[in-house]
Amino acid sequence: MLIFLGLLTSFLSFLYVTAPSIRKFFAGGVCRTNVQLPGKVVVITGANTGIGKETARELARRGARVYIACRDVLKGESAASEIRADTKNSQVLVRKLDLSDTKSIRAFAEGFLAEEKQLHILINNAGVMMCPYSKTADGFETHLGVNHLGHFLLTRLLLGQLKESAPARVVNLSSVVHHAGKIRFHDLQGTGVTTYAVHPGIVRSELVRHSFLLCLLWRLFSPFLKTAREGAQTSLHCALAEGLEPMSGKYFSDCRKTWVSPRARNNKTAERLWNVSCELLGIQWE
Ligand SMILES: NC(=O)c1ccc[n+]([C@@H]2O[C@H](COP(=O)([O-])OP(=O)(O)OC[C@H]3O[C@@H](n4cnc5c(N)ncnc54)[C@H](OP(=O)(O)O)[C@@H]3O)[C@@H](O)[C@H]2O)c1
Ligand SMILES: *[C@@H]1O[C@H](CO)[C@@H](O)[C@H](O)[C@H]1NC(C)=O
Repeated sequence: MLIFLGLLTSFLSFLYVTAPSIRKFFAGGVCRTNVQLPGKVVVITGANTGIGKETARELARRGARVYIACRDVLKGESAASEIRADTKNSQVLVRKLDLSDTKSIRAFAEGFLAEEKQLHILINNAGVMMCPYSKTADGFETHLGVNHLGHFLLTRLLLGQLKESAPARVVNLSSVVHHAGKIRFHDLQGTGVTTYAVHPGIVRSELVRHSFLLCLLWRLFSPFLKTAREGAQTSLHCALAEGLEPMSGKYFSDCRKTWVSPRARNNKTAERLWNVSCELLGIQWE
């Protein structure tokens, strides 16, 4: 037993000492394009922290007007002022968007459409994970309501503007634990709007806040997890890389197209999800 504990301790200390190099190895893809974004308009949901905030920072650095769309405007403002100071770009704006309430989504879209003529990049980044069972204002289970339906409605409401601003892009934060039906690329074909799904990596962020076990694991393995900045690279790649248009509808990880689970490639499931989403939200896509 003692020997085992001794071995375990030395193994763990070895891991911790070598962590920086191991982590660098696993840090994964880096967005290498130099594309600058003067005059471009970007909306990022949930950009007050984590991956979204780092994505916003980099897009602001490249000169875009960046809208941080978040549910807590105070948190948003503190992220925005940090980013403004860091990038010297004053065009980092905060708008209220609570994806767990379709009223708030509609109000956000209405306000945005009134103040901006164009939208070049929409990053559907906000998300919750393992939060206790609860329902959104419209009675949807929270994960489904916020992560999927909320962004589905938001995208629908902003689609006209995206089309008018083409070439435009929609980037969805997905996950390696993605499930069936998230990808429905046909509907955005031929519009000049392209769309990408992203697995950011396993990233140190607030995402695991609802699970005690994951918080513990995240803390224990934190030297091996990606930083939020590293986690933002694939979102940035999908938003910026030149010539990516033929890859519309694809799923990316570490700045590369990667394999989607067979379940998520099932067109019937995708279509069903699509129709059910429209029904639940009481909207039509076209
Ligand atoms: N971290 C990972 O390892 C990992 C892995 C795979 C995929 N992802 C995906 O990456 C995306 C970003 O996650 P993260 O790791 O950066 O997590 P995070 O630090 O928890 O950030 C999530 C963001 O979503 C916002 N949000 C949550 N509910 C919302 C609502 N109802 N309305 C508006 N905004 C809401 C949060 O706002 P508050 O600050 O106000 O709560 C926060 O800004 C998520 O979609 C996540 O599923 C992450
Ligand atoms: C991204 O999400 C929007 C809204 O749900 C959807 O229209 C689009 O097809 C999705 N794209 C990908 C590649 O997942």
